Amino acid sequence: MAKIIDGKAISAAIKDELKEQIKAYKEQGIEITLAVVKVGNDPASAVYVRNKEKACEYVGITSRTLALPEETTEEELLKVVEDLNNDSAVNGILVQLPLPKHIDESKILLAIDSNKDVDGFHPVNVGKMVIGEDAFLPCTPAGIIEMLKRSDIDITGKECVVIGRSNIVGKPMSILMLKENATVTIAHSRTKDLKEVTKRADILIAAIGKAKFVTDEYVKDGAVVIDVGMDRDENGKLCGDVDFESVEKKASAITPVPGGVGQMTVTMLLVNCLRSVEFNK
Ligand code: GUN
Repeated sequence: MAKIIDGKAISAAIKDELKEQIKAYKEQGIEITLAVVKVGNDPASAVYVRNKEKACEYVGITSRTLALPEETTEEELLKVVEDLNNDSAVNGILVQLPLPKHIDESKILLAIDSNKDVDGFHPVNVGKMVIGEDAFLPCTPAGIIEMLKRSDIDITGKECVVIGRSNIVGKPMSILMLKENATVTIAHSRTKDLKEVTKRADILIAAIGKAKFVTDEYVKDGAVVIDVGMDRDENGKLCGDVDFESVEKKASAITPVPGGVGQMTVTMLLVNCLRSVEFNK
């Protein structure tokens, strides 16, 4: 039976550390403010934004949510971002994705001041991450590294297979695992003999977006399995990309959904809000 990597407990520990640091900042007269911009009525985004607000409140970060209507134009959104860039009271800016189809996401992400880009999605921060310079790191991959470290899972020299090549998870995940000295393979929908590839992994990271896709047939005995999925099963219940029941019997450690990676994503956003104070000094 695998050890369950408890994202909730690890997040709680980090949040309590952050709370102390934020208290110390407040005593020096430094307040931290995160602006969250949400456009339209995507129900999943509404839940994510609420979770971010709650987490900010818990650690003592002020969150300012701007909920804009679905019809907001690209120009209007660019103006909102520009105003936040110029607002010295705002340390961090996050534009919740996905945006409505009539807005070019990459144009908006590029408009965010890279020193306030707490999502780590701006090309400047992506570039800095790739060459190993100090930058905002994208929250989900950074959260996974933190989870592995805090669970005493050694990364150096390990075979790591990431399934998925998105800009938000798969690609940055592979870069951060490389930085931790893993031997990294990125697998994706066109990968041939996927099971053969994933069975090489000492650390298998699933970021596919397909409910319970990774069964025990994809997993080597004793592997560490990290599940980034936020999917719905046939009964509409939240589940991950990993078939937890079968994989748990084979893996040495596994993250659950819910209560795994998702918790860490929000927590790392708070970490980035704190870093934003340093970046904007
Ligand atoms: N949509 C889903 N995940 C994320 C995230 O981490 N950041 C933003 N901005 N939008 C998202």
